[in-house]
Amino acid sequence: MTTLDNLTKDSITITLKCFFGFEETLAEELKELGYTDIVLLNRAVQIKGTWYDVYFLNLHIRCAISILVEIAQFRIHDEQDVYKKSAQIDWTTFFRSNQTFAIKGAVNSGLFKNSHFPFLVVKDAIVDCFRDKNLERPNIELKTPNILIDLYIRENMVTLSINTSGAPLFHRGYRTETGSAPLNEVVAACLIRLSGWDRKTTFLDPFCGSGTILIEAALLAAGIPSSIERQHYAFKNLKNFDQTTWDKIYDKAPKNSRELPCRIFGSDIADEMVLKTRANLRSMSFGKTISISVLDFSEIQKQDEPVFILTNPPYGQRLEADVLDLYSGIGDWLKNTMNPSTTWIITSNEDGPKSIGLRPGKKYNIYNGDIPCTFRSYETFSGSLKEFKSKGNNTTEK
Ligand SMILES: C[S@@+](CC[C@H](N)C(=O)[O-])C[C@H]1O[C@@H](n2cnc3c(N)ncnc32)[C@H](O)[C@@H]1O
Repeated sequence: MTTLDNLTKDSITITLKCFFGFEETLAEELKELGYTDIVLLNRAVQIKGTWYDVYFLNLHIRCAISILVEIAQFRIHDEQDVYKKSAQIDWTTFFRSNQTFAIKGAVNSGLFKNSHFPFLVVKDAIVDCFRDKNLERPNIELKTPNILIDLYIRENMVTLSINTSGAPLFHRGYRTETGSAPLNEVVAACLIRLSGWDRKTTFLDPFCGSGTILIEAALLAAGIPSSIERQHYAFKNLKNFDQTTWDKIYDKAPKNSRELPCRIFGSDIADEMVLKTRANLRSMSFGKTISISVLDFSEIQKQDEPVFILTNPPYGQRLEADVLDLYSGIGDWLKNTMNPSTTWIITSNEDGPKSIGLRPGKKYNIYNGDIPCTFRSYETFSGSLKEFKSKGNNTTEK
């Protein structure tokens, strides 16, 4: 019978879920944190580790949405097998009767007439396990369960895991204010990593909205975990939760940085957005070092040093904007004012980037939530094209 103790002793299978297209970005982050033997999956990566790693990664990882610990993996021949095999797990070793639980996940299998069915039978197996031991049955709570179980069925292979994060890891705990089109925090962290920003060059977001990109960039540069403000993790509700290990991990994590290793600044045309960014920065130790202004992007003057720009201008899909004029204005501003600079733009607008008038150096197709987007880079430079290319660059005006 599978018990939580079996999992505690052995090396456990840890699955880190991510957004589509960011599997390699997440694997790179894991490598930087010292992990090896990383298996790339679809919207996830997998490693072997211990409960220490589970706690550590929940706090430190920036590019994952949730962290699962595999409980059991088995083949099924028919619908009934899901109950039989799930009943071989001693669920009472994982949690208590007075805790709530929910089962979420995905079923991609022709074995089931109704894709809800496997969720119902796993629920039955869990409840029966408690009853068979003369214990009260735990209640289901879909919104904020104490224990979140992940059920994944692909054809005849079933994987049951504990979602040790609970609420997705983009609930960082720092963003109290958002605009109407905020970038997901995990997407922002992934984009910053994908862009290759060196964490030293001056960083600017001229369409900062509620400040997600600026805050993720600052946390990365300062080496502070993006989830340092977050209190809730579902692993704390498991029977084997080890408070001492968690305290050690949390105490060791960098929490404050009055000075950042580089200059980070941002602006937005809307004063209410600037107020939101300032409010979100208020609780951060480095909050005062990031200057935020109310400005149209075109009013930002040439800087004394090279600038790294990573930004999320209006898409035209979620915010009203005369997109073509806006993007052509961005192109002119980059060429005439922001040189030298490296600029990365995430947008779901197909036509906007064509009006920028610069040839992109790199282009990735990614998703912001369920919105398909492109993420493109542009280089602008001062001096001659020959000089620029001799430094190994290859992006030019179109
Ligand atoms: C897609 S939102 C950015 C969201 C942001 N990344 C976040 O996570 O909150 C685009 C932002 O661009 C701002 N904006 C629109 N036109 C602008 C302009 N001409 N100059 C500067 N900001 C502008 C809007 O006020 C809006 O906050």
